[in-house]
Amino acid sequence: LKTLETVAALRSELEPYRFAGKTIGLVPTMGALHAGHLSLIDRSRKETDVTVVSIFVNPKQFGPSEDFSKYPRTPEVDADLLRNAGVDILFHPSAIEMYPAGDSTSITVKGITDEFEGAIRPGHFDGVATVVAKLFNQVQPNIAFFGQKDAQQVAVIKQMVRDLQFPIKLRVGETVRERDGLALSSRNQYLSQKQHIEATGVIATLQRVSIALGLGKDIKSALSDASHYFSITCPDASLDYLEVVNIETFCKMDSFKGVEKLLVIIAARFGATRLLDNLIIDRPTTE
Ligand code: PAF
Repeated sequence: LKTLETVAALRSELEPYRFAGKTIGLVPTMGALHAGHLSLIDRSRKETDVTVVSIFVNPKQFGPSEDFSKYPRTPEVDADLLRNAGVDILFHPSAIEMYPAGDSTSITVKGITDEFEGAIRPGHFDGVATVVAKLFNQVQPNIAFFGQKDAQQVAVIKQMVRDLQFPIKLRVGETVRERDGLALSSRNQYLSQKQHIEATGVIATLQRVSIALGLGKDIKSALSDASHYFSITCPDASLDYLEVVNIETFCKMDSFKGVEKLLVIIAARFGATRLLDNLIIDRPTTE
């Protein structure tokens, strides 16, 4: 594992590989790595010749009252995990390396970011799009790997890649879950044991919507039944949203009209911790 902290060092390390026609895979992360990240790394190692993992806790995607300063940072453990996973390059820039003094460019992806995480966390997706565009420009990967757990982020990055014509393929890895169903997230470590147990209600709520739609129930009643279920199963949590949306545009949907798949998304707060999850639902064969 080669750890590089500057863009110049990263570029000169990658140049010979590119010159030799090797393909480069990028897995962008904010560290505090877990099995979800490792599954993306595994895919990158299978599909590309050189795997670069970036670790950068991006200040621009955190709101002023969010958890930037307390976001988990575990650099030694992360480096060991990356070494064991056979990663070639760890790119670990400082904030000043990523955003040199006087930096004033920001990328906004419109539309997809209007609701849900975009509305609840104003500026969040500008921060994500900007840092991911920078990483794409710095690493110039052939393929970049993201997790389906952050489904709206995936939709935003797909749109940005189309709009800015990055010659990069995107791969989206399935959400990795704990045995009890909780989607892996670096923020899960903020949960108390009691909250963790209660948080299994998040996936159960999504599954309820999925089952109802599979049985041909209409979306509106499936959602109202599932949000009632959530309030009973997770009495100490508060629901930010539970919705069925178009997987690409993130527009709310009230039927499968014109699409083969829908996405059911949820965000809920357990104390100070916000958890996100989602499930892809195929159009029932009876529709
Ligand atoms: O999903 C994340 O960890 C971050 O949003 C990303 C894509 C690394 C950008 O900072």
